[in-house]
Order: sequence, then C-alpha cells, then structure tokens
Amino acid sequence: MKVKNICCIGAGYVGGPTMTMIAAKCPHIKVTVVDINEKRIAAWNDPEVNNIPIYEPGLSDLVGQTRGNNLFFSTDVKAAIQAADMIFISVNTPTKTYGVGKGMAADLKYIELCARQIAEVATSDKIIVEKSTLPVRTAEAIRSILDHTGNGVQFDILSNPEFLAEGTAVSDLLHPDRVLIGGDPTENGLNAQQALVEVYANWVPKERILTTNVWSSELSKLTANAFLAQRVSSINALSELCEVTEADVTEVARAIGTDTRIGAKFLKASVGFGGSCFQKDILNLVYIAQSYGLQEVADYWEQVIIMNDHQKRRFAKKIVKTLFHTVSGKKIALLGWAFKKDTNDTRESAAIYVADYLLNEQAAITVYDPKVTAEQIYSDLNYLGTRTDEENRRLLQVVTDPLQAVDQAHAVAVLTEWDEFLDYDWKKIHEHMLKPAFLFDGRMLLDQEMLQTIGFKTYTIGKG
Ligand code: UDX
Ligand code: UDX
Repeated sequence: MKVKNICCIGAGYVGGPTMTMIAAKCPHIKVTVVDINEKRIAAWNDPEVNNIPIYEPGLSDLVGQTRGNNLFFSTDVKAAIQAADMIFISVNTPTKTYGVGKGMAADLKYIELCARQIAEVATSDKIIVEKSTLPVRTAEAIRSILDHTGNGVQFDILSNPEFLAEGTAVSDLLHPDRVLIGGDPTENGLNAQQALVEVYANWVPKERILTTNVWSSELSKLTANAFLAQRVSSINALSELCEVTEADVTEVARAIGTDTRIGAKFLKASVGFGGSCFQKDILNLVYIAQSYGLQEVADYWEQVIIMNDHQKRRFAKKIVKTLFHTVSGKKIALLGWAFKKDTNDTRESAAIYVADYLLNEQAAITVYDPKVTAEQIYSDLNYLGTRTDEENRRLLQVVTDPLQAVDQAHAVAVLTEWDEFLDYDWKKIHEHMLKPAFLFDGRMLLDQEMLQTIGFKTYTIGKG
C-alpha cells in the first residue's frame, strides 16, 4: 500500500515540524495538519511565514516552500480524517492533575477523544500512527475504542515516537539517528509498518529505520528520554560536589566524556533540565513501574526528578545566600526563560521555578528572553498557583531590551543559553548595575574570567 494522503491531529511542537518535513520530502503525499485550536491554525496559515506559532531554526522556510502545495493547516478535523489513509496522533498528553495517578500518570483524554473521532468519521481503512509519547500499551486502548465503535473499517495501529529535540527539530528530522516504527506482527500490521517505512525512506537511509513490536516502540521512547535526563541529573549531582571540592565540572565532564563507552553528549551541568518531555516521561515510567508493583524500579527513576528539583532550588537558594541572605525588594534580572536556546517553548523550564522561589523571597524580577512573550511568562507563573495573576504582574516585569532588564539590578542570572548573551557588552551591563554586581550563570555560558576582570562577582554551576 502506498500512502497518498496523511492527516495529523495536533499542530504543536511535534506535529507541526514533523509534518512539514514529510511534506517537504514527499511531494507526492498530501499532508493536512489539523488542530482544535483555531488561533494556532490561523497562525500556521499566516501569510507572513515568520508568524507561524513555533520558533525553530529553518522551520519557517520549509513551511514557506510547502504550504499550499502539499501541506495544509486546518481546523476541519473530520474532513481531514475522512480523506486520509494514514493518521498521525500528535496531541498533548500532559501529566494528570486529578484523580488516580495525579501528578504522575499521563492524561490520555485527548488521545481517547482522537480515537473516538476517528472511529466515528472513518469510512475507509486507515493506518493510525501514535506520534505522541504514550505509556506502554496505549495502542491497546486505542485499538479497543476503534474496534468497538468504528464503522467496520480496518484500522492498523503503529507506534512511531518522535525523537526530535526542540531548537534542532529541523536538522533532527532531516538527519535522524533512527526512526522507530512499532507494529503488530500480523500480515496487516506488517503491511502498515511497511507503508510508513516507505514514507520515511524518501529521505532517511533504510538502515536507520528500525521496526519493532508496538510495546517495545512505546517503551523505547520513554526510556530514551529517561536515560538522557538521567545523564543530566548525574552531571548535575556532580556539579554540587565539584563546588565543594574545587573540582571543575566542565573538566570532569570532558574527562569522562572522552571515554567512548560514556560519550560526550548530555553532560552539560545546568540549572536543571526542562521541556515538555523529560519530567513527564519519567513520571510516567515511575507510575507504570509502580502500577506493576515494581517499587525499586520506580524509586530508581524517580531519583532523576528529585535531583533535578534539587538543582533548580539550589540555584535559587545560592542567589539569595550570596546577596547577603535577602533579596527582598532587590532587582534581579533573569536572562532567558525558554527551557533551552533556539525555542520559544517554556514548558517545565527551570526559569519558572527559579523565578517562583525568588518571588517568594520578595525579589523584584525583570525577565528578558529573545523569543518568549510576556503573556507566556505570566501564564507559566500563574499555572503554578503560588500567587495571583495580579501579584505576579506586580512583582515580575517582562522587558524587550536586555539593558532595561539589568539597569540598576543587584544581580543577573543566566537561565537559558541563548547565543546572543555571549555577544553582549558586559562592561556596559556592569556599569548599569548596582555594586557589587553579581552574576549567576546557570548555563556555564559566559567567560567567568572576563566577567571577573570587568568587576562582576560571579557564580557558575559546578565550579568551586
Ligand atoms: C505533544 C506531547 O506533549 C508529546 O508527548 C508528544 O510526544 C507529541 O505531542 P507537542 O507537539 O509539543 O507534544 O504538544 P503541543 O505543542 O501541546 O501540541 C499539541 C496540539 O494538539 C495542540 O495544538 C492542541 O490544540 C492539539 N489538540 C489537543 C487537538 O488538536 N485535539 C485534541 O483533542 C487535543
Ligand atoms: C527531548 C529529547 O532529547 C528528544 O529526543 C525527545 O523527543 C523530546 O525530549 P527536548 O526536550 O526538546 O528533547 O530537549 P533536550 O535537548 O533533550 O533538552 C532537555 C533539557 O535538558 C533542556 O532543558 C536542556 O537545557 C537540558 N540539558 C540538556 C542540560 O541541562 N544539559 C545537557 O547536557 C543537555
């Protein structure tokens, strides 16, 4: 079977870039991305291609090349389902905020909604592809809904987890380490798997397209993120030890990273990992382990999260302690709010928690981030529920000029590793600040010696 018409439900950070790449590499396939969020779809359709809702280097160019040719964005979910022979489900699966599994399990209500809608609308055979990160055995639930409520048409379910990292989505999609496709080992299942293999084979070398059973594929996605997050928590744990022993975490990371068995990537100590996936996926893994009665397995992985929470809090505490044990009424400039550079995504960003801690200590915060809007920043803080929207707006100010952020500030904290921070005139920044001028580098981004020569009192993660 050759796929001619693809629909993707969910025009988010995963669905948007992934479908854009498929459209760009498969001109013979019509790709329609649908979403229930009208504003988001309108932004994807904005005539000015730089106004698409997601910032990723290189993405707007690709959208410009394909949109209106074989790539379409729409809110007409039903029509797109009806027309498609392959449907990607790429809706969000947030951590449950209520009931059993609260704060841990993935909330699958959107996935279920999608399955029900597909079952209701479909009048021809479809291949359903799970793109969202899902707990193991979700495919079973989807299958059960489709088979019991469908119109007697054939559904094949595949798991095709996304491994792109935000900020590098376009190049990750272009040159993936691997594409993973899980399917049922039945004749229909294998045919469906093959149909998706052929879509990717338009640009991905065949040896990089791995096929497994559905459960292995689902679990591999959770595990890949858990392993990556574990590396960050491991190096962050060592960063604290370095600070008290005069070891330097950068040197330690280099020394261990050159061991080819360990490898150099994901050993950068930081103020803590963020993003939509790491925490959610680990909590999910923990919850799954618990629900099978595997408490030790659950505890083992949960420690990765505990370490990360500690790292964020530790950084904020360090600021308070260094500023003579009080930040009350003191202006502190936060540079960066996104969970990493080159994205406007802020989900679970360490900056949110650092800001919240400092606001509890009554600091007067200003935030500058090159890509994140003020409304997003307030909504992130409000979501924590620590204080009212009015209080957050009164205590924290968002500015669009970095110099305004640092003007008359007691301290600057770098929370995202944006390249532009490297090019700032730090001497000028120092002149604008109150003295002693403190700088806390949560990303080990800036040249500490240069800053100290200028006159800054500096702290960076992992250096004694
Ligand atoms: C999401 C999941 O968070 C992640 O686990 C998974 O791997 C991929 O999908 P992301 O694309 O970053 O990641 O999420 P988000 O940017 O929130 O996009 C999801 C979109 O789905 C939203 O635009 C939302 O409006 C849409 N949606 C949600 C629907 O169209 N229908 C629904 O029923 C629910
Ligand atoms: C991650 C996975 O990498 C990707 O494969 C998966 O599909 C989705 O989740 P993402 O969350 O976009 O991608 O970003 P990633 O680059 O993995 O970074 C996650 C967090 O870890 C960021 O906050 C980043 O700053 C932090 N990090 C990463 C470190 O602190 N140190 C490192 O060495 C690497």
